[in-house]
Amino acid sequence: MRESKSLRDARVAARTYEVALPPQQRKRLGQYFSGLKLGKLLAHLALDSQFRSVLDPMAGHGDLLDATWEAASERGIPLDRLDAIEIDETTAATCRSRLAHTSGRTQPGQAIIAADAFDPASIEKLPRRSYDLVITNPPYVRYQSRNTDGIAAARIRAGLVAIISACLPDEETTIWRELAEGYSGLADLSVPAWLLAAAMVRPAGRLALVVPATWRTRDYADVIRYLLLRSFSLECIVEDKQPGWFSDALVRTHLIVARRLSEKDTAQPLTARTHFPNALWLQVAPEAAAAHSLVGASFAEHAPDRQFAAWVRSGCNQSRCGITTHPFDLHDEWAALERRITRRSWYQALEGRRDDLPLFQTPRQTSRAVVPDMLRSVLPDGFSPDALVTLEEAGVSVGQGLRTGCNKFFYVSARGPASLGMVRVRASSSFGHREFFAPADALRPVLRRQSEMKSMENGSLPDGRVLDLRGWVLPEDFRIVDEAREAYGLNGEMLPQSMPDELATYVRLGATAPPAGPDDDKRIPDLSAVRTNVRLPRNAQITPRFWYMLPDFAPRHLPAAFVPRINHGLPWTEANLESPVLIDANFSTFWGLPKGLTRCALKALLNSVWCRALMEALGTVFGGGALKLEATHLRHLPVPVLSDAAIAQLTTAGRQLTKTTAELQSRIDAIVLDAFLPGTASLASRARFVRALAGRANDMSRARQAA
Ligand SMILES: C[S@@+](CC[C@H](N)C(=O)[O-])C[C@H]1O[C@@H](n2cnc3c(N)ncnc32)[C@H](O)[C@@H]1O
Repeated sequence: MRESKSLRDARVAARTYEVALPPQQRKRLGQYFSGLKLGKLLAHLALDSQFRSVLDPMAGHGDLLDATWEAASERGIPLDRLDAIEIDETTAATCRSRLAHTSGRTQPGQAIIAADAFDPASIEKLPRRSYDLVITNPPYVRYQSRNTDGIAAARIRAGLVAIISACLPDEETTIWRELAEGYSGLADLSVPAWLLAAAMVRPAGRLALVVPATWRTRDYADVIRYLLLRSFSLECIVEDKQPGWFSDALVRTHLIVARRLSEKDTAQPLTARTHFPNALWLQVAPEAAAAHSLVGASFAEHAPDRQFAAWVRSGCNQSRCGITTHPFDLHDEWAALERRITRRSWYQALEGRRDDLPLFQTPRQTSRAVVPDMLRSVLPDGFSPDALVTLEEAGVSVGQGLRTGCNKFFYVSARGPASLGMVRVRASSSFGHREFFAPADALRPVLRRQSEMKSMENGSLPDGRVLDLRGWVLPEDFRIVDEAREAYGLNGEMLPQSMPDELATYVRLGATAPPAGPDDDKRIPDLSAVRTNVRLPRNAQITPRFWYMLPDFAPRHLPAAFVPRINHGLPWTEANLESPVLIDANFSTFWGLPKGLTRCALKALLNSVWCRALMEALGTVFGGGALKLEATHLRHLPVPVLSDAAIAQLTTAGRQLTKTTAELQSRIDAIVLDAFLPGTASLASRARFVRALAGRANDMSRARQAA
């Protein structure tokens, strides 16, 4: 399709406008636009020859509407309406002047409303209450942070409920209202935005969305997953194999296309449904793309996005370079979702299950373990998710390591062993690497960086030390401590000692040092995370604390095992030493192990091919192709319930396990897989499964690293 000169100019003007948007505003309003190429792909998948009306209720500067108009023109679909809402006045004006140039054989009517989409008055300004196609990319904005008293959140929820009541037939409002009233208060703006967009689709019309790939792993998105099953027939999910589709976003993207069900079909609760059709899951690699289209290399013929959509609709019958497909089993999706939501009030109201629920459920019955889609296609026959629990349900706590608030002051390196109770240490480059003596009991070993993990593998102590000065005060602070003698006695705490000279000199230097170099007008004690170390002895029971005294260490700082939060290669978990050292916040940490589970068994389990592939699939890929593994990802890791015998075997293997012990690795994989695969699975099918898991993990890791 050749664009007219005026449309080309309007598109350039829109892009220029986008580039100049103030970063603060973009963040506040979630103004990260989809781009024409992504829009074209989505529009072709979503358009139907019968469709005439299209709405983007959070339209930005019009990428998706412009793309839909172009896709419709390529297919000869005469659109009647191209409507939009956009909260930001100037962005809405840019959208309006851009869409004014979408003329051709047909010129659709347009209403571009500059207003808040959650205000029922904005919806009233639209010429229709429902549309054949609602296409959007919801804003991902944590609006609570803008309005801590919750007024914004309450206003959005109330607006959404009013819009639902106005736009939907009475029979359906119960379902939608329950969801609108029931979504978590922690949800970001995308959840109500998604509900609003979905509510504006007419029965048999389509909803088409651009969303981050993490949407299904967020607890607060359960209402969305439910809605997609209850009121829609999910048709396809298209996934980019590497981040990069979506302008400015460092996350991977999903395109979702779903057809709205009739009132009659929606009325049936999911627990009563016997048939769930399969949806299609497609993964598109960068090699599928050409300059003009995200699938331009795979569909080299004319109008590649159109050909791609036709290929998808006809069942993807010939393989195409860079595109893989697999069925997405909606029955499994419902089974996995239902396990997560049985205690939600909206589930009980909408599925009529309140009376069936036992008062207490065993962890196995309520397990929220879900195998990520990226791995489902390699699961062997007979696999059942019921054999798995999440790491959290297995009793393992997951968190983050130690944050000192100012590592350059609190972290030093030991220069040798203790002698006469003193250790020579070297400070960071911010203190000119100065060396001084500190009392051995004011120093705690710490693992600071990934490069130090290797030393832990063979049980050696890293050379990092944290200045733990809870038992030491500057001589000039001793008077305050002395005055609080009674409080120390009442709390059973030892009175801190006066620091020896060299240490005191270093701490005084720290008190005056600007944390970010000579131009910084702040001082280390003023840093927000250091200031909070101070505790004033307000009454006779409170002992004083000074800025140089870190808070007491928590179990998550002295964990049983840990894994880097930022991973370049496949994630590798290390066990802590028998006498645990502190682990820095660069790591996600595992602690509080259930009785019987040892740190070495946990290391072996988490380094099994099963867990490493899961980590690769559950983590978030971001800038430079690194994989971010946070506690929220790891808590949901589906793991088998291990017998005492399996734990004992894993303990033995984990003790000797290093990254290069291949024979041990296969023994560990066998123990872990045995714990959840059916006894009937043959040796050959297990071996195939291990190979497929390893292959999938390596593919995912390579793909993100190539980004
Ligand atoms: C992620 S952008 C997507 C824009 C466009 N749909 C696209 O795909 O390029 C989300 C847009 O929603 C707008 N927005 C945020 N809150 C809104 C609200 N309450 N009502 C209407 N628009 C809103 C933002 O200004 C932003 O332009």
